[in-house]
Amino acid sequence: MCGIFAVVNDTSHHAARTTLEGLKKLEYRGYDSWGVAVVPTASQKSKVSAKGGSAYGRKSLKSKNQIVIKKKIGKIGEATVDDMPSGDIAIGHTRWATHGGVTDENAHPHMDCSGRFVVIHNGIVENYQELKQSLLKKKHTFHSETDTEVIAHLIEDRSKEMSVEQAVLMVFKELVGSNAIGVLDGHTGTIVACRNGSPLSIGVGKEQYFLASDVTAFLGHTQDVQFLEDGEAVVMTPSGVKLLDIASGKEKKLALTHLDWKVTDAQKGGYPHFTLKEIMEQVVTVPKTALVNRTEMETIGAMVKQSTRIVLIGCGTAAYCALASQYFFAQVGREAKSYGAYEYLPFAGFSDTKTIVFAISQSGETADTLIAARAAKKNGAYLVAVVNARVSTLERMADVVLPVGAGPEISVVSTKAFTSQLASMYLVTRMCAGKYEEAVNNVKTLGELLAGWQTKKLLGEVLDVAKLLMSQEDMYVIGKHMSYPAALEFALKIKESSYIHSEPFAAGELKHGVITLIQKGTPCFAIGASDETKLELLSSAAQLKARGGTIIGVAPYASSEFDIHIATPDAGPLTIIPNVIVGQLLGYYLGIGRGTDPDKPRNLAKSVTVK
Ligand code: M6R
Repeated sequence: MCGIFAVVNDTSHHAARTTLEGLKKLEYRGYDSWGVAVVPTASQKSKVSAKGGSAYGRKSLKSKNQIVIKKKIGKIGEATVDDMPSGDIAIGHTRWATHGGVTDENAHPHMDCSGRFVVIHNGIVENYQELKQSLLKKKHTFHSETDTEVIAHLIEDRSKEMSVEQAVLMVFKELVGSNAIGVLDGHTGTIVACRNGSPLSIGVGKEQYFLASDVTAFLGHTQDVQFLEDGEAVVMTPSGVKLLDIASGKEKKLALTHLDWKVTDAQKGGYPHFTLKEIMEQVVTVPKTALVNRTEMETIGAMVKQSTRIVLIGCGTAAYCALASQYFFAQVGREAKSYGAYEYLPFAGFSDTKTIVFAISQSGETADTLIAARAAKKNGAYLVAVVNARVSTLERMADVVLPVGAGPEISVVSTKAFTSQLASMYLVTRMCAGKYEEAVNNVKTLGELLAGWQTKKLLGEVLDVAKLLMSQEDMYVIGKHMSYPAALEFALKIKESSYIHSEPFAAGELKHGVITLIQKGTPCFAIGASDETKLELLSSAAQLKARGGTIIGVAPYASSEFDIHIATPDAGPLTIIPNVIVGQLLGYYLGIGRGTDPDKPRNLAKSVTVK
């Protein structure tokens, strides 16, 4: 939900280019528009004209360092900033629009009236209308419809009476909502950034300093990171980085974390898209869950035993993992209840000190999940964060963290994080039932099964089905019990990656209404596992077939009810994983065939940090 990047002391002396490269790694956070602002080096200042169009400054600029901005709607992929002046300090943004349409004017960075300050922002300023009215009365002129521009003008206003550092902190405290901002002062070449609810990290290199919404943006430059907490600010100047407490304005000690992530983790590794790379990585990431987190699982297992209520929350794909985990718990004789985190609040009052809440999230930054987790924790619940990205807000809030270890997931469409979360939750539930060793072996075996199955042959088979379905506009996906969350996730992958309407149903629900939608040739996926659901799933498939549906079975077993069969490995309760992988691949190939960008589906963002 918007990506922020900045560099100070850029050693290449083309800070705009460094910023653009950083933004390209953050594009998954928003791709409605992009923008870069640079403070030109002294020799270049005279050459910078205040022209309109793609690269421009404000006409009123007369003195000091004139900031040059280039901003445009559309994806950043092919963008260049070679026409921007050289400089050592720059700031940039990729936008996922909230306030104001997708236009060049609404793209960030936003400038104040004087041209001294530019602001980039991730979040929503909920009280921006009220703030804007007060600024309009003071004759500030606005050039966009965004909530962000208000911040630039407020800083201009407040900095008349105090230092820029103090002005930024004061303005940030006036903003209502979850926000992260970066402010560039063109006069002093200082960047001040603040965080409350939206992620921000600082990269501290030997000579260069970076600011980003996600560390993957500067991993190629430095692996030493300061993760900002809510309520913290950072001041970055050519002479160093200073950490501040926003409430008191007092300086705090930097506590750098050295990350052992490799730059290659955030690269495509020869695949045409991150989506395909991450789907294929599951051969490694799924079995990896059996080798890590034993201590955490023991702690969680003990807490589950003491708890009278088990709650599972998440959003989107993570909500489907929560639902699947509800079935995993049922299999070991424990009742658990899953909620889409966005619907949890009416039920948060039932949580107490005997409640254990599993908050499942790839990013650990999803606003709805954080709100639900906070509400449960307020009532004394024990919070387990089941996360993939590290050092997130959810992780910091949790009593215990279960890092599922799938590595950076760059594609907006979640794939490997989901299956690692599933495998981890399977292991947790078996730990609770004293069957951990057996479960570890099952996950390792699944890894071997995936390695033998996720081959070119499978890709070819799925591609053939995708070709057959390419021009369809409606599809249905059914599953029962553990295969029901599989059907939900299978259908979501098709919707997200290809924009085809694909609707999931519990197989048992079909005959209660949905069956009216089936006509001759309607593609119907029947997702099955070799368990107690087999016969009922097949009879649901037969009912669909009798109404003319084309049945595509995704299951470890063949059946005469299937017109097409994509065979998946039989992994017992873990068969959900290969079954969903078929949906991931199918969505990917359908998307490619229909001309979408599978890594960056329209209207979506990787981390949804707003309510
Ligand atoms: O980072 P999270 O796991 O909390 O994100 C939750 C959802 O926003 C996410 O799963 C979303 O549904 C993805 N588009 C799934 O591909």
